[in-house]
Amino acid sequence: MAYLKPDKPEKVYVPALRKAKRKGKKLVCLTAYDYPTARIVDEAGVELILVGDSIGNVIHGYGNTIPVTLEEILSATKAVKRGAERALIISDLPYGTYHVNEDETVRNALRLMKDGGAEAVKLEGGRNRLNLVKRLVNEEIPVVAHIGLTPQSVHKLGGYRVQGKTTATAKKLIEDAKMLEDAGAFAIVLELVPKEVAEIISNELKISTIGIGAGSACDIQVLVLHDLVGLTFGRLPRFVRQYADIREFMTDAINRWSDDVRSGDYPNEDESYGLPEKVDIEALKKLEND
Ligand code: KIV
Repeated sequence: MAYLKPDKPEKVYVPALRKAKRKGKKLVCLTAYDYPTARIVDEAGVELILVGDSIGNVIHGYGNTIPVTLEEILSATKAVKRGAERALIISDLPYGTYHVNEDETVRNALRLMKDGGAEAVKLEGGRNRLNLVKRLVNEEIPVVAHIGLTPQSVHKLGGYRVQGKTTATAKKLIEDAKMLEDAGAFAIVLELVPKEVAEIISNELKISTIGIGAGSACDIQVLVLHDLVGLTFGRLPRFVRQYADIREFMTDAINRWSDDVRSGDYPNEDESYGLPEKVDIEALKKLEND
């Protein structure tokens, strides 16, 4: 008997990334923070979903990622998990949740996995995080590292600028990437680094690089979904290509509905419920007058 081929593509697990890299197949990753966007992204065939701490900028309007809490990422991860059947779900460890000690970091990462349904966690930093990466991996927690521009260091860095532009800083990034691979990370986000540096790292490593503002040589590209579809405010970074203007769509829908309400056109007969015939309306009206 011939086995039926599943009509849905297979669930993405961590080893799929290495396999794709070996075959030279590019993968895609988008952020999601809630059930509907997770469903849309998952059903579109995106392989990785990042429950990023960019939720702080995009959803909560904090202005940066520093105030984001574990509870906020946990709640978002639960919703994303309910919406995504296929994509690999990676959740960010927010600022302050991996900075105190290793035990606390493991506890926080386990909450994202056990309570939230995350399948991997991401943390920012290079050589300063090696022991932490080793410890998490040792506890069966898959880790994505994140180097280059690390937004949780915004106060130290003094802004969001391209990193690794000198020989010394580029060399440090390349070394950090290798050390993180050796420590057991299964992928590394390269954010805002020169494309030449990202290419060297992508060629040197066996694990996947996930680029954002890091050129086309990265194995995987990631964007903040809300930037891609035009649902963020303010100037977009130059690496963002915006494919839709959802804000305009939403404003138009809201304006049309408001106009219909104000003109008395909404709700119409079809959009309203009536009483069954057996109910005596005249009696009800009488009650109202009594
Ligand atoms: O939080 C996030 O969305 C991220 C991506 C920008 C990589 O870390």
